[in-house]
Amino acid sequence: MRKPLTVGSLIPGRSIPSQPQITSLHTSPAPVAKKNGSSSTSRQQNVQHVRVKQRDQVFQVRAVPRETILSAALAQGQAIEYKCQQGQCGKCAVQLIEGSSCLSSPGNQEKDKLGSKLSQGYRLACQSTFRSMTQNS
Ligand code: FES
Repeated sequence: MRKPLTVGSLIPGRSIPSQPQITSLHTSPAPVAKKNGSSSTSRQQNVQHVRVKQRDQVFQVRAVPRETILSAALAQGQAIEYKCQQGQCGKCAVQLIEGSSCLSSPGNQEKDKLGSKLSQGYRLACQSTFRSMTQNS
């Protein structure tokens, strides 16, 4: 059995063990808590984000409850184009590719500005807000 390293063993002239003794603190891996029904598939379904397309560029934006797509995107470093941020210019229009269930229903301003494009999946990024996590539909 080798002597464990101590402060005294590091004093010049004292002998230093060639291999420090390593003691394992854990003999078995820590237990992993499992929630009911958790799996990689259900975990993926819990990931809340939208994927939107604007002028041939696709952006993935993590859902932030009650924030607009635009403000969440900008905070996440996604360069969605915009101008007025008031639902008037239409510059921030994006087409939803994925995640429409994360968003609240379009308001009158979006309906007026987008018209028939709304049914094609377009939304105004500055007006579309993410649902709060407790909303169901
Ligand atoms: S930035 Fe003008 S409508 Fe959204």
